[in-house]
Amino acid sequence: MSDLIIIGAGPGGYKAALYAARQGLKVTLFEEGHVGGTCLNVGCIPTKTYVHSRSFDEAVERQPQVVEQLRGGVETLLANAGVTLVRERGVFSDAHTVNGVTAKHIIIATGSRPKMLPIEGADDPRVVDSTGLLQLTTLPRKLCIIGAGVIGMEFASVFQRYGSEVTVVEYLKECLPMLDADIAKRLRKNLEKRGITFHMGAAVKGIADGRVLFEQKGKEQAVEADVILMATGRRPNIEGLNLAAAGITPDGRAGIPVDEHFKASPLPAPPLGECPNAAAASVSLSSENEALPQRGSGEGAGDIYAIGDVNGRQMLAHAAEMQGIHVVNRILGITDDIRFEVMPAAIFTEPEAALVGPSEDQLKAEGIEFECHKGFYRANGKALAMAETEGMVKLRCEPGEGRLLSCHVFGAHAADIVQEATAFITLRASLRQLRQTVHIHPTLSEVLIEVS
Ligand code: NAI
Repeated sequence: MSDLIIIGAGPGGYKAALYAARQGLKVTLFEEGHVGGTCLNVGCIPTKTYVHSRSFDEAVERQPQVVEQLRGGVETLLANAGVTLVRERGVFSDAHTVNGVTAKHIIIATGSRPKMLPIEGADDPRVVDSTGLLQLTTLPRKLCIIGAGVIGMEFASVFQRYGSEVTVVEYLKECLPMLDADIAKRLRKNLEKRGITFHMGAAVKGIADGRVLFEQKGKEQAVEADVILMATGRRPNIEGLNLAAAGITPDGRAGIPVDEHFKASPLPAPPLGECPNAAAASVSLSSENEALPQRGSGEGAGDIYAIGDVNGRQMLAHAAEMQGIHVVNRILGITDDIRFEVMPAAIFTEPEAALVGPSEDQLKAEGIEFECHKGFYRANGKALAMAETEGMVKLRCEPGEGRLLSCHVFGAHAADIVQEATAFITLRASLRQLRQTVHIHPTLSEVLIEVS
């Protein structure tokens, strides 16, 4: 018997396990692959090793060293904290039991995997996902990337620097829709200037003989490539868990539905007469669900939570980590003030882009009054000294230099600048307070107080 079972040792799962164990809970952590999940093994960490290597060969050599060192560190931390790590796929047999281990609380943190387009030719051996791209040992001469989302843009940037001829084909008119449109355009134009070809507003229809076939403005076109990266999103890992035994019905491709505290336990079904959408309810009430234990129905009736990519909310390692901390706090009866709506994100192209808070278009669509203040790297001493003058900061706040709402940045170390803005937004501070905070000179973060 454990206090807490966690399925999946990615950043969501292992951080939650460490935190819970340090708070005195008896934790069993199931992991069928390597600890560290996508982020450490085939995601954030290896890709950042690529970004910070001088050549493709150096990246290929350094990647396993960096990953293994970190993985070893995580394993040691888990052992020292007294977490029981079980190297098996966790499978529910009922709402409290996984692989014969019983616990009052269970956290599902099984992450996600790349989503491949169901198009003709997708099984061509030249087609890889992000994991496959990181396994290449020779640099592709011609790399075609399908999708100008975060993964597509990061790999386009780094493989072009290594010397590949890179073409990106994207369905939407602009890359990275969560960014302010002008910042996304600056980033794309910057990469274009470096030699990357972008086909925007172009829908990929198929792959034939190493040619990516797409339709743009009603015209059929093709790009030849020796490696094709499919970077068209990720899907939650919900298969093989026997979720039905736990009484959980995943929401198709969207993952495990959760409430604001990431609780996935099924709610007691309302009588059909009271349901606002009786037809929908009749679809979701499968025979398995009807036999479910009711939440809070007595001694031992614990809760099941789903954190990280598997709940489909915010597919970011740091979102998963904070969701895990929040869940453990709930289990321990601790109230915290984590503001999940203030979720920064970065795109590690060269230079970077990063954001926290809504884009200009989102604020307008929501009818929120704001003023926008801009600052430019070319006016910043440190940026000039670093020869990194290409960059801009956009800060939005309530009228009259009021409460900060969002910050979108393009330029060197954008993630660090956005991190500072994140702290101010989280603390509900105003632009006035940010301006009155002493900044070290010379630093890039002075751009934040130099906005006009
Ligand atoms: P994404 O959803 O960000 O982008 C996928 C792109 O593919 C979209 O722009 C979409 O319009 C395009 N697309 C889809 N079908 C297409 C078609 N038939 N033809 C042309 N274009 C098509 O997904 P991505 O980049 O694969 O990333 C997956 C997840 O991982 C995201 O949630 C992302 O935030 C996360 N991630 C975050 C990172 C970070 O924070 N630095 C790094 C890597 C991934």
